[in-house]
Amino acid sequence: MRVLIPKEETAIIDDPSLTHRPELKYKDLINENSQKKFRNYEDNLQTLNVMNTYQQMHANQTVAFGIEKRKKWLKFDHAEMTILEAVNLLDNLVDSSDPDIDLPNSMHAFQTAEKIREIHPDKDWFQLTGLIHDLGKVMALWGEPQWCVVGDTFPVGCQFQPTCVFYKYFEENPDWNHPEYSTPNGIYKENCGLDQVMMSWGHDEYLYQVLKHNKATLPEEALNMIRYHSFYPYHASDSYKNLCNEKDALMLPWIQEFNLFDLYTKSDKLLDPKALQPYYQSLVDKYIPGFLKW
Ligand SMILES: [Fe+2]
Ligand SMILES: [Fe+2]
Repeated sequence: MRVLIPKEETAIIDDPSLTHRPELKYKDLINENSQKKFRNYEDNLQTLNVMNTYQQMHANQTVAFGIEKRKKWLKFDHAEMTILEAVNLLDNLVDSSDPDIDLPNSMHAFQTAEKIREIHPDKDWFQLTGLIHDLGKVMALWGEPQWCVVGDTFPVGCQFQPTCVFYKYFEENPDWNHPEYSTPNGIYKENCGLDQVMMSWGHDEYLYQVLKHNKATLPEEALNMIRYHSFYPYHASDSYKNLCNEKDALMLPWIQEFNLFDLYTKSDKLLDPKALQPYYQSLVDKYIPGFLKW
């Protein structure tokens, strides 16, 4: 049966990956383009919200939690809907950090896609990746808390790295002192490849799994951009290279380029999603057609 109505009509969600970026790699870019001041470590409400999200995330994202979430979400029994229906659902997410509450959340999807289209007019799969990359956030509409939907991601089952934002909160994680999970390689073989590694649960991993389950024909580069775009300690701080293989090395520049579009386009001009819909529908029809199981 086709289920489109999520449990919650709206959910409040701010992606702290976009609001709190201490890495030097993207720093100049953010300062140039951001009008938001809370990316500095100002002691204001937004900073407290970001800290609170990471405190809960780092205390609760364990190996056992990751297994439990995969059992729940990888049944794909929450909804049957098309990609563009999911894009529209993003508008039910209320970004409380955004002073302009009338701005629909799908605007970020179209802005990212259109900027990629401008720079890469020949890469339709890259443009579509920009449009869909945050669709995993719809989990929040089924009641998932913010700290396991948005924010930076990291591997579980191995030592947490100090390059993760708010690293100190990992001390509250039950895996912190675990004999197997607290070594650099943890439960993984050296250079096993990131696809062998269990990431913390969030919107990146969920959408990747939805696309695989529904047999999307997007190239590997696109799937990697989606799966690791919030993995900042890796693509912005060069950590966790001990878990990577040659394929990951080939994919990393794509993830990094994608990230510039994800961060850069937030303050761009407003677009008309209705006018853009037919073009993106043609890309959806090419790579991820029909009703998907979510
Ligand atoms: Fe994201
Ligand atoms: Fe995004």
